[in-house]
Amino acid sequence: MLPTITVLRGDGVGPEVIESALSVLGACLPVKLKEASVGGEAIEATGDPLPPETLAACREGQAVLLGAVGGPRWEGDGPRPEEGLLRLRRELGLYANLRPAKYLGLPTPLHESLVRQADVLVVRDLLGGVYFGEPRGSNPDEAFNTWRQTREQTTRVAHAGFREARRRRRRVTSVDKANVLEASRLWRTVVTDVGKQYPDVELEHRYIDAMSFDLIKSPQRFDVVLCENLFGDILSDEAGAIVGSIGVLPSASIGQETPLFEPVHGSAPTLAGRGIVNPTGAILSVAMLLEYGLGRPDLARSVERAVLEALRETRTPDIGGSSTTAEVTGAVHRHLAWLRWQETAEPVAYGWGV
Ligand code: NAD
Ligand code: IPM
Ligand code: MN
Repeated sequence: MLPTITVLRGDGVGPEVIESALSVLGACLPVKLKEASVGGEAIEATGDPLPPETLAACREGQAVLLGAVGGPRWEGDGPRPEEGLLRLRRELGLYANLRPAKYLGLPTPLHESLVRQADVLVVRDLLGGVYFGEPRGSNPDEAFNTWRQTREQTTRVAHAGFREARRRRRRVTSVDKANVLEASRLWRTVVTDVGKQYPDVELEHRYIDAMSFDLIKSPQRFDVVLCENLFGDILSDEAGAIVGSIGVLPSASIGQETPLFEPVHGSAPTLAGRGIVNPTGAILSVAMLLEYGLGRPDLARSVERAVLEALRETRTPDIGGSSTTAEVTGAVHRHLAWLRWQETAEPVAYGWGV
């Protein structure tokens, strides 16, 4: 039976990058697609940014592929598109968000010698911290949120971080604000305890303020960067500067139920409908879907290689080029077809007399 991918195109540039991503997925292997709505588009249709049928569709498939949610249209009172994404992550128990940022040969604001070796994986707690802590609320004169971090939340995402480190360069940098916040002190204690179960992985701790500086100053010295929810949100966008654009960063959210794959970037409202959004983050999210969602690391590597090749010759404006989304996607297809032909072609056997 074909794997079912639940497709949530979302808002702004979401549908455009998903179109590219799906075409690449379709070139890799046959899948069944099930479309559902989330975020602003779901608010327009039903008043709810995560309608029950969308959640049910996500539960039934093997993987979810999401574009982006949000936009100025929904910034007033009333339900917000972002709530749909947060509820989806929580309902599916997606506690670990993997956000790789690896040098792709693109121009960046940093000096090339600094970023050439950069290969960082931000592992972000997706269900803890101030995003979900209760109580929260506001009145016209006061607003408050609660930063709540439990041992269980921290333990499970820490294991995810150390496991990923074992597949990489065996180094974890845990980020916190333990000099000020109780929630961070518990985080540090728990990460240190979990780390003892991975004696082959080196663990260091960094405060978020210093880490924000170090990540830009010496990106090449970091491997897995383990963060609570808000710090991970911020540092992963910062990692976009190391690679050249936030538009090239992919992510995988894994945990208890169906894994979800989405680019790190948002709905980029000013780019929507112009045909020039960078599809790379979404296409590389397909590579993560192939690896983490469908158990096909071989196809994931092919997509990554095709993206690298394509970016040598065609780039959207955010990375200094003038190509369209469709042209970049077309280049990825060309290289993917060539790579896959090379992998599968039988050597031609010529007989005598041919
Ligand atoms: P954004 O990521 O949408 O855009 C930030 C900047 O990067 C903008 O200059 C944008 O033009 C550029 N950019 C982003 N993606 C790009 C791409 N693929 N190609 C080229 N340029 C790209 O962040 P924002 O402007 O802070 O947020 C816009 C909306 O998106 C908000 O409503 C926010 O809540 C939402 N958002 C959603 C997600 C998500 O769905 N996962 C993530 C982040 C932000
Ligand atoms: C992200 C986004 C989301 C987050 C928002 C849209 C809820 O910024 O995926 O990085 O803060 O997690
Ligand atoms: Mn973010």
